[in-house]
Amino acid sequence: MFPKASIFLFLAASQFLLRSVSSVDFVYNTNFTSTNTLLFGATVDSPSSILTLTNQTARSIGRGLFPSRISVSSSSSASPLPFATSFIFSIAPYKNMLPGHGFAFVFLPSSATSAASSAQHLGIVNFTNNGDPNNRIFAVEFDVFANQEFNDINDNHVGVDVNSLTSVSSAVAGFWQGERFKELRLNNGDNYQTWIEFNVSAINVTMARAGSRKPVRPLISIPLNLTGVLVDDMFVGFTAATGQLVQSHRILSWSFSNSNFSIGDALITENLPSFKLQDDSVLKSKGFIAGVSVGAFVLIVSVLGLLFYVVRRPRRRVEEDVEDWETEYWPHRVKYRNVLDATKGFSEENMIGYGGNSKVYRGVLEGREVAVKRIMISPRESVAGTSEFLAEVSSLGRLRHKNIVGLRGWCKKGGESLILVYEYMENGSVDKRMFDCNHEMLSWEERMRVIRDVASGMLYLHEGWESKVLHRDIKSSNVLLDKDMNARVGDFGLAKLQNAMKEMVSTTHVVGTAGYMAPELVKTGRASAETDVYSFGVFVLEVVCGRRPIEEGREGIVEWMWGLMEKDKVVDGLDERIKEKGSFEVERVEMALRLGMFCVHHDPKVRPTTRQVVQILEQGRLSDDGDEREREGMEVSLLERMKSSYLLGTSEGRQQQEQHPTFQDVWNTYSHSKSFESSDSIFQGR
Ligand SMILES: *[C@@H]1O[C@H](CO)[C@@H](O)[C@H](O)[C@H]1NC(C)=O
Ligand SMILES: *[C@@H]1O[C@H](CO)[C@@H](O)[C@H](O)[C@H]1NC(C)=O
Ligand SMILES: *[C@@H]1O[C@H](CO)[C@@H](O)[C@H](O)[C@H]1NC(C)=O
Ligand SMILES: *[C@@H]1O[C@H](CO)[C@@H](O)[C@H](O)[C@H]1NC(C)=O
Ligand SMILES: *[C@@H]1O[C@H](CO)[C@@H](O)[C@H](O)[C@H]1NC(C)=O
Ligand SMILES: *[C@@H]1O[C@H](CO)[C@@H](O)[C@H](O)[C@H]1NC(C)=O
Ligand SMILES: *[C@@H]1O[C@H](CO)[C@@H](O)[C@H](O)[C@H]1NC(C)=O
Ligand SMILES: [Mg+2]
Repeated sequence: MFPKASIFLFLAASQFLLRSVSSVDFVYNTNFTSTNTLLFGATVDSPSSILTLTNQTARSIGRGLFPSRISVSSSSSASPLPFATSFIFSIAPYKNMLPGHGFAFVFLPSSATSAASSAQHLGIVNFTNNGDPNNRIFAVEFDVFANQEFNDINDNHVGVDVNSLTSVSSAVAGFWQGERFKELRLNNGDNYQTWIEFNVSAINVTMARAGSRKPVRPLISIPLNLTGVLVDDMFVGFTAATGQLVQSHRILSWSFSNSNFSIGDALITENLPSFKLQDDSVLKSKGFIAGVSVGAFVLIVSVLGLLFYVVRRPRRRVEEDVEDWETEYWPHRVKYRNVLDATKGFSEENMIGYGGNSKVYRGVLEGREVAVKRIMISPRESVAGTSEFLAEVSSLGRLRHKNIVGLRGWCKKGGESLILVYEYMENGSVDKRMFDCNHEMLSWEERMRVIRDVASGMLYLHEGWESKVLHRDIKSSNVLLDKDMNARVGDFGLAKLQNAMKEMVSTTHVVGTAGYMAPELVKTGRASAETDVYSFGVFVLEVVCGRRPIEEGREGIVEWMWGLMEKDKVVDGLDERIKEKGSFEVERVEMALRLGMFCVHHDPKVRPTTRQVVQILEQGRLSDDGDEREREGMEVSLLERMKSSYLLGTSEGRQQQEQHPTFQDVWNTYSHSKSFESSDSIFQGR
């Protein structure tokens, strides 16, 4: 009896010792400092000593962690230690900026941010490792953006994440008061307190306004087995991210304990600063009284107007209710039936274009004009190709930029067709406006604008969004003109779908359009930002010269231009029809053609980056006004050097193109130029 009891005591004691060694308790009550917090891209405000994870800097990651790793499992057992943590946070939007993306309380195996990306990935994981069991990450996310690819329930939710941003469980942010649920808007600047308790087999997440008592019923209460998920020693803390959408994420106080489940009570909830966005103080303004009287009148008139409208057009009103944040920022899966209605059952009279395996119809969906692309897929090809494509589409759908044709939705009809719904482009394709006699021809000014627009749309695809999006098929028939004659790039990513399908039927990997494909793409089938730049270069030549890249019985456009360049007659390449009109500037023609030739350089490393292309085009315009020229001296000199490079060289033969030092030199200079890398002025989208 005695020995048994002593063994038991010993075990209990050792258990206790091991636990006490590994267990952690700490409290921060607005006393974050750069020494008691490990900061990555985050800051601590002084004197308030609040942890600021992000501010209005776009596409940033901010992390604030407890300064050392903590033991997550007791060495004696494989199961993780219980813990309770509580923190007060504030997420605030910035005036006139769309808010995103959210933050998370995290356990991380490593403090490095290299395996994480910003925007929708919240600084936790990245595009490739999301969902990977080797991540060893546990997080509780406070997410204010609905990402379809992660099955987000809405744009204001709390979720429990294990290795993946697709939450194990999530709930609309808020709290339970008896049987009633009260939603709390995460990103309105309010201070909220959160409690997270994990008792080894289950987890509770609870939240309330800071200062309120902890609600009895948790927001999320689920069984959770973290055995095998976490590693022994981990970093614990917070991570947040912004994308094109920005907001501040702040942690005001934080407590954590492995033993004391009342540690949340240690947080001081009074006299905390408020980060609510201040409304312009209307009441104080002198015009207030006058405003009120005018306002009352306007109100009465608009109420009457609204009533009239509601009574007259009940259906339209319902439809416009859908036109909110959601429809604007990512595509819905639209109903096939609605697409049928929109296109009058894909009637011939609604057809506006066709390609190899697709037809494009014009239609009206939810009161808006749309272009419906119907892609036929044979069952044999469908599965792998389309699922991959759809995964991409659901994120591509959120791409919004004035030079991108927005995707409004998609649906799939069995295994036979895939339907993509795009914004309708009133003025058709550039291709039509260049070569189809039934359309009014693009003027020189319009052509330059088209080129600039396409470049900035491409830059948005390549750099403006979280993961690089390759277009893979830039050509004049994929560039469309909206009602304001803005050029927009359409059909991005579609070539990938075709690529995936082709791969299944044959081993040919090459997809793209003849004449626009970079030599290395033809050789390897591997698309890259550089192959997009090449296609863009061909597009520029096409638009300036007014001839197709490949024409029956003629030299290809690139070879033809090389010929002219060797004779130092670059400007001769200009479209005859423009020459006749005479309303063009020789310098700009030359600039555009040289830029095109720069982009179609056979060595991908020599081609300019998309960002450089945009810079050059902006410079082409900026160089007209003198004072900008001083500041942007760097880019001017790129142009000068481009001119003086072998592109001008009349003496050199074509054979020597391969390793011309001047060009390499130009490249080196600019790829190391900081001013190039950091310029952000051209981002218009989000
Ligand atoms: C913050 O202040 C509290 C007192 O309110 C103190 O107990 C705690 O140790 C401090 N935290 C840190 C991390 O310095
Ligand atoms: C906030 O913005 C400034 C630049 O305006 C930057 O220096 C700072 O590091 C940013 N980040 C945080 C988290 O404060
Ligand atoms: C994501 O992180 C992993 C490391 O976990 C890295 O190998 C990979 O290249 C990253 N992917 C992207 C798209 O950054
Ligand atoms: C943890 O809590 C759940 C309820 O949330 C309970 O069912 C379970 O028995 C508890 N486990 C332990 C080990 O205390
Ligand atoms: C979660 O909350 C419920 C209800 O208050 C409670 O019974 C349970 O023990 C809690 N579980 C954990 C893991 O704290
Ligand atoms: C938890 O997961 C581990 C590893 O996956 C497994 O061995 C263990 O049986 C699980 N525990 C429970 C209670 O399901
Ligand atoms: C747990 O923490 C709370 C808040 O700091 C404190 O009031 C309480 O005494 C602690 N309990 C134990 C058992 O240490
Ligand atoms: Mg989420």
